[in-house]
Amino acid sequence: MEVESMFDLSGKVAVVTGAGDGIGKGVARILAAAGARVVVSDIDAYKARAVAESIGAFGGSAAATACNVLVDADLEALIEFAVSTFGTVNILVNNAGMGGGGRENPFEVDRSYVEKIYAINVFAPWALCRLAAPYMQKSGYGSIVNITSMSSVNSEASMAIYASSKAALNHMASNLAYDYGPMGIRVNSVGPGATRTHALASILSPELEARMLSGTPLKRLGEVGDIAMAVLFFAAPASSWVSGQVLMVNGGGTQTLG
Ligand SMILES: NC(=O)c1ccc[n+]([C@@H]2O[C@H](COP(=O)([O-])OP(=O)(O)OC[C@H]3O[C@@H](n4cnc5c(N)ncnc54)[C@H](O)[C@@H]3O)[C@@H](O)[C@H]2O)c1
Repeated sequence: MEVESMFDLSGKVAVVTGAGDGIGKGVARILAAAGARVVVSDIDAYKARAVAESIGAFGGSAAATACNVLVDADLEALIEFAVSTFGTVNILVNNAGMGGGGRENPFEVDRSYVEKIYAINVFAPWALCRLAAPYMQKSGYGSIVNITSMSSVNSEASMAIYASSKAALNHMASNLAYDYGPMGIRVNSVGPGATRTHALASILSPELEARMLSGTPLKRLGEVGDIAMAVLFFAAPASSWVSGQVLMVNGGGTQTLG
């Protein structure tokens, strides 16, 4: 067995949502470095274009498109863009997500907030799986990777909506693995712990970081590359007999807000 070929994505087409920044950007870049042609999508077209250009600059292949995963027509257009640009979809990374950060006081958030968080964290991945699966089946190679969160297994105050939506996505994926397995499509999830992105920076203080590190055996917060490597494993032939799984990438511990 050639180890290198197990991580080779040459000839594969990957679609990444929310890829203009943070974890999605790191994932898009590593999939391209492994040889995939990558559709870099983001609600912010400018950021998506910059990431695609940065991939082109190291010799990778990428195309950028705007996609707000809260808009049904954008989801359809995203898969159509991938097919018309690169011919198919083999790898789908459902990365765009929002919520949490300890900002979900149950007496302050309202129904529209709950619906929005579930729409981006649960409904959009479900819809994109459904749209991409026929192409994956036809091409003979399919891998779906959801970016969920360590919050999906933690329990703490003011996190109920985000945490439960990410738990729903984990469980939806492990169930979809049964539907999609016979079609040759694997479905897995990566659950990041606290990872240094703009989203984390918006809540991180020195006190919070110290508290998080006290529960982290590996004594550092996550970097985007830590999460991207786990996604690469699930996207690549290296994990060809792995489906329905959740891999927490969290420094070996738990980083809670409380
Ligand atoms: N950073 C962490 O500590 C952490 C921990 C656990 C889970 N996560 C998850 O990782 C994923 C990425 O988070 P991040 O920290 O990289 O965030 P980020 O804020 O750094 O980047 C998010 C990207 O998504 C885009 N985006 C926002 N709304 C969108 C929409 N409606 N449609 C399409 N794109 C949209 C933004 O423009 C941005 O480019 C999320 O699902 C998040 O829940 C992050």
